[in-house]
Amino acid sequence: MKMSRRVESLPPYLFVEISKKIAERKARGEDVVSFGIGDPDIPTPAHIIDRLCRAAQDPVNHRYPESEGLPELRRAIAGWYKQRFGVSLDPDKEVLPLIGAKEGIAHIALCFIDPGDVALVPDPGYPVYAVGTTLAGGEPYYMPLTEKNNFLPDLNSIPGDVIKRAKLLWINYPNNPTGAVADLDFFNQVVGFARQHDLVVCHDGPYTEVAFDGYRPVSFMQADGAKDVGVEFHSLSKSYNMTGWRIGMAVGNAEMIDALKRVKSNLDSGIPQAIQYAAIEALTSSQDCIEEHNAIYQKRRDLVIEMLNKIGLEAKAPKASLYIWSPVPKGYSSVEFATELLDKVGVVVTPGIGYGQQGEGYVRLSLTLPDAGVVKGLSRLAEWNAKK
Ligand SMILES: Cc1ncc(COP(=O)(O)O)c(C=O)c1O
Repeated sequence: MKMSRRVESLPPYLFVEISKKIAERKARGEDVVSFGIGDPDIPTPAHIIDRLCRAAQDPVNHRYPESEGLPELRRAIAGWYKQRFGVSLDPDKEVLPLIGAKEGIAHIALCFIDPGDVALVPDPGYPVYAVGTTLAGGEPYYMPLTEKNNFLPDLNSIPGDVIKRAKLLWINYPNNPTGAVADLDFFNQVVGFARQHDLVVCHDGPYTEVAFDGYRPVSFMQADGAKDVGVEFHSLSKSYNMTGWRIGMAVGNAEMIDALKRVKSNLDSGIPQAIQYAAIEALTSSQDCIEEHNAIYQKRRDLVIEMLNKIGLEAKAPKASLYIWSPVPKGYSSVEFATELLDKVGVVVTPGIGYGQQGEGYVRLSLTLPDAGVVKGLSRLAEWNAKK
């Protein structure tokens, strides 16, 4: 069978060997403690599920939804942005609900990228920015995020010929996989850079609500003129433990939102309405659950950092996100270290190379496993360290 060049161009699944090993271990009846995927273990709060169940019983919600989402949901999203960030959005023109942020992130490339165009993407980074670009026929240019530069891209080091071909700039803070954060100064610089080079900006911010020690991440939409040049993708996945329900949003520049709406209305039929009602409940009711979840993640973060430091890995405690970005021990590649932990003590961590070349030398540990799993996983790390 001959696949399209588009499909052939998709990157190989880098974790294939590790996934195989996990499956083999499980088949042998050996358990695995996984700090792998960033999928919250804590259930969706009960009041959100109650609303979902009530809405599911109503036959009105059994029919095709509108692809632009319920007006009440768009208003709830705008209200949440106002309350949380002080940002005003027109719910009819500047807000678009998504089937999870990932869906919009992949589809927006179709709005701005023609064959030969460049999208500037972070390295390491969430893989969908580059994959969406490639599927649209474009070329990703990888902007290195280095520890020396606090995992922010050095915009001034992007070569002139690349910038000339670039249409779109991707940024993501709090960052996956590094856990780095950005401030308004940086976002203001990004707006200036985008204006100077006629770029559209896509900021991906699904982790703004997962933060520690009282820190409150900012939204790109708070930057002066952000709405003139860009949109922000957000999600209910991490804020309210709703990864399984698939709901997120894009907000910001009306023309960009309209273009994404046009693409989407031709490809999907929107988000099941019962889920939209659950999202309205999440966004408009008490936000106390966010603090409660963050307290849980913060304790786990501290335990993980303490153990990593104890075994000689100088990982820094992130201010936000669900991830610890840890250097690997000397003499190991990120895949070798991840494989060794899995083989020797049944612990899964994600090799940094899976997020780009600049991810080499690091592994990512996600905080989304139950406390007992964290404790067990960490004692296994200590065991590995003692035996090595
Ligand atoms: C940086 C980043 N963006 C987007 C997403 C996708 O979010 P959603 O569940 O809303 O599709 C993730 C999920 O892990 C992510 O890490």
